Amino acid sequence: MADSTTYVTKPFLPPLEEFLPYLQEIWNSRILANGGPFHQQLEQALCDYLGVEHIALFTNGTIALITALQSLRVTGEVITTPYSFVATSHSLLWNGLRPIFVDIDPVTLNLDPTRIEAAITPQTTAIMPVHCYGHPCDVEAIGRIADTYNLRVIYDAAHAFGVRDEGGSILRHGDLSVLSFHATKVFNTFEGGAIICPDAKSKTRIDYLKNFGHAGETNVVAIGINGKMSEFNSALGLLHSNTWMSKSKNVGTSTPPTACVYMERAGLHA
Ligand SMILES: Cc1ncc(COP(=O)(O)O)c(C=O)c1O
Repeated sequence: MADSTTYVTKPFLPPLEEFLPYLQEIWNSRILANGGPFHQQLEQALCDYLGVEHIALFTNGTIALITALQSLRVTGEVITTPYSFVATSHSLLWNGLRPIFVDIDPVTLNLDPTRIEAAITPQTTAIMPVHCYGHPCDVEAIGRIADTYNLRVIYDAAHAFGVRDEGGSILRHGDLSVLSFHATKVFNTFEGGAIICPDAKSKTRIDYLKNFGHAGETNVVAIGINGKMSEFNSALGLLHSNTWMSKSKNVGTSTPPTACVYMERAGLHA
């Protein structure tokens, strides 16, 4: 009998035979990592799909968060939400930063902007809000506070793949937005993540940082980390992009087959 159980966190995988040609290509080229062809194609495919101009792929969302903070040279205290996965505040602690927890709005479950100003001190340099469960934060109110107090805003957008507002991708707000492509996410690359960058200059700096600080073969310009996405992870992302994502007419609003099943069974329309 067919298994009719609906799993809340069952990762979506395409049929194995669809992935095999991608593996064959990796075996033929012997390019396994370091910004190979699948990595480059996936960056372009995601820019097109999400409606953003610059994206840097990462090995996972946590390393992407840590690198995003490094790239903006954030110091001191960072205002964030207590209602998130531990990676949000751990990324701050790994950078030697002090998380300052501001309570959430009980309806949206996102950082309550009306409580942020009271938590700002002379040490505050940034805000790290989370678009919890993909529900957009009050980006206008957060942006106004950041402008007034000259603070950086790094959105933890781990749950917000493909989320849009009237003006386009929700990922365009703030200084940087960070995605997770973990197995449990709407779009997965087994493990993976990305930073959405506002311009080519910030993407270049982030690309250096995720590649040991290398700017070319022999030139090391910063203290970097290894945050690169491999060709295997990129290949799975590209396969998703060439299959269920390309079937969506409305950019950013499609859902993968597993999510469609959840929604159908919950009586919602996918
Ligand atoms: C809100 C949030 N931030 C960060 C992460 C970390 O992402 P990753 O698992 O890709 O490292 C996750 C989840 O997995 C998350 O839910």
